[in-house]
Amino acid sequence: MALILKNAHIVDPAAQLDGVADVLIEGGMIAKVAENIEAEGAEVRDLTGKYLIPGLVDLHVHFRDPGLEYKETIETGSRAAAHGGFTDVCTMANTDPICDTGATVAYQIARGEEAGKCRIHPAGSCTKGLKGEIISEMGDMVANGAVAFTDDGRGVQDAGMMRRVMDYGKMFDKVVMSHCQDEGLVGDGQINEGAVSTRLGLLGWPAAGEEIQIGRDIAIAELTGCPLHIQHITTAAGLDMVRRAKAKGLEVTCEVTPHHLFLSEEDLDVTYDTNLKVNPPLRTKEDSAALLEGILDGTVDCIVTDHAPHAAWEKAREFELAPFGMTGLETSLALILTNLVDKGVIDYAKMVELMSIRPREILRIAPVSIAEGNVADITVFDPNAEWTVTEDIFESKAANSGFLGAQLKGRATDVYLAGVPTMVDGVVTD
Ligand code: DOR
Ligand code: ZN
Repeated sequence: MALILKNAHIVDPAAQLDGVADVLIEGGMIAKVAENIEAEGAEVRDLTGKYLIPGLVDLHVHFRDPGLEYKETIETGSRAAAHGGFTDVCTMANTDPICDTGATVAYQIARGEEAGKCRIHPAGSCTKGLKGEIISEMGDMVANGAVAFTDDGRGVQDAGMMRRVMDYGKMFDKVVMSHCQDEGLVGDGQINEGAVSTRLGLLGWPAAGEEIQIGRDIAIAELTGCPLHIQHITTAAGLDMVRRAKAKGLEVTCEVTPHHLFLSEEDLDVTYDTNLKVNPPLRTKEDSAALLEGILDGTVDCIVTDHAPHAAWEKAREFELAPFGMTGLETSLALILTNLVDKGVIDYAKMVELMSIRPREILRIAPVSIAEGNVADITVFDPNAEWTVTEDIFESKAANSGFLGAQLKGRATDVYLAGVPTMVDGVVTD
């Protein structure tokens, strides 16, 4: 049946839209965008007061499936994605087994289709088992639908290996996404190396441990011509390297997470809250300010969550034993709306660029616009919904958010995936 989404404020810079209009959806596609659409027999949803944008894409999530389903499954992760307003995600390869074959890529896509709550775009690993020793079956994975390559969770330690990975990435026209972590420098580092790590008596994870691989990988991108995407960038100096690479005309992009933007090492206090243990670690306030500057000047291409679900018992252990990572899919949009858009730091159009348009470009998946002939992948949010992050709101299996207790303004209410509702009025469909 045809569906008319009425009276929402549509924002889509790609379609040059910023105003109230109706959207007619037929057969999973956008059939018309105009004021006062009428269509006989169509279902009508009144979205007065809401905003309507192209479906959000998170190009960095961990769904833990196969093998670590006690943390998250593709089904629960997909529900969390829909709940947060996302239509598409790119899943990381550190599952068990590692996603280093076409069979695992195909499995993840199929499970995603079965769950039906968002599209899964798997990233394959660069090296077998994330061990850094043998290159993965990249061609096999591309043939089965891998959109990108990364050893996320670990850095590729050997420059020669990274060169081979990027040679193949270039050949397949796939982006190589780099988790930058030099193991020799980082070792067992727990939090950013500096005054706070000294005060808390925790081993330091120095900024240079990240920056050294950013610099190296930019050099290899220049050497090979492969598109390079720096994952969860956290330091001012690292961002400067990306800025210079872009100025040189290299195809180098980068992402930031809400936690690196809105939290810092200062939030780590004597409570040793393991939800704030992330890799790379929360850095200094100055670094967070530099990341924001990078968003404003275009150096930062997109916002991602690095949604990293862990079981409650894992995070309940001593700080050194707890795993790195926090969830993010269900708080990301609201954090950006609350801390950036509502405060006038960025406008809605910039948010759509960071969370919908650029991620699709980086992953080389088809663009989605609020315009006739496009697939109806749509996110609707209420900019005025006020809510508090509590453990019971999550569709994810995990509740290891670093933002528990935060009061936020703005929340996704409705999501359409090829015209099919995956969330209605804030409730994920069954
Ligand atoms: O904090 C993190 N958690 N960073 C990563 O790179 C990996 C992730 C995980 O898999 O839990
Ligand atoms: Zn990650």
